[in-house]
Amino acid sequence: MAYETIIAETRGKVGLITLNRPKALNALNSQVLADILDAVKTFETDASIGAMVITGSEKAFAAGADIKEMQAKSYIEAFMQDFFVGWEELTRARKPIIAAVAGYALGGGCELAMMCDFIIAGDNAKFGQPEITLGVMPGMGGSQRLTRFVGKSKAMDMVLTGRMMDAAEAERCGLVSRIVPAAELVDEALKAAAKIADFSLPAVMMAKEAVNRSYETTLAEGLRFERRVFHSMFALDDQKEGMAAFAEKRKANFSNR
Ligand code: HXC
Repeated sequence: MAYETIIAETRGKVGLITLNRPKALNALNSQVLADILDAVKTFETDASIGAMVITGSEKAFAAGADIKEMQAKSYIEAFMQDFFVGWEELTRARKPIIAAVAGYALGGGCELAMMCDFIIAGDNAKFGQPEITLGVMPGMGGSQRLTRFVGKSKAMDMVLTGRMMDAAEAERCGLVSRIVPAAELVDEALKAAAKIADFSLPAVMMAKEAVNRSYETTLAEGLRFERRVFHSMFALDDQKEGMAAFAEKRKANFSNR
């Protein structure tokens, strides 16, 4: 797959997307959005792929939405285009996506990472929502998703002061799931994705959907949803295989059915 702003490749059962605008620190312009959505859609429909990783460079995951591209935009253009709504499509992916973040993840870069299912950070990662310094505010989910990740006080601090947090703080407050040395980041993220991709794909997809449901609904409805989905798993060949493999003390061989 050849793209202008990203590199998309497969590593076994994992789809790897690497942002590739080094001169602009991977700033997210409309072409990056189009390229990422196309690559994700391709991996979504490729039956041999079980999980994806989105990463940037060691210096920058992404330094934000492309300021130079949006600088001259008028209100009516932003409104009529429903500017940034396209990114929502990424959150509709059903296969897991890991964000592997080294260096700067600022503004839209932090928001892109938060749209993924979890974030693995290099030890040099820096997260921030500096939009306030540009006379605006987050527009790709920062005020909503960051608050759900880290709580009101820290989200207000980040959004209102525009300060960056380092990897250690991001792990402490639950924004990232783990920290690894920056030089090993992509390998570690690929390892995690390969592990996921070896499990039953329908089980993985249902588990992702259930966790995401917890953001959208009450606890009682979420628990009911979880139980119903869990019940439906007894119709999977993979449930029979996974439990038989445990009882027979062997490795499960899932067929994704
Ligand atoms: C466009 C960007 C960019 C961005 C960096 N560049 N970030 N271009 N949009 N978001 C470009 C620079 O202009 C420069 O291009 C090149 O990348 C290298 O950047 P430098 O600033 O020279 O690098 P450095 O000194 O190492 O500083 C790194 C940095 C800084 C601290 C990350 O670049 C920075 O503060 N960037 C902006 C971060 C930001 O505000 N992000 C939020 C964007 S708004 P040239 O051509 O000069 O070499 C957003 C949400 C929008 O994301 C929602 C509200 C509408």
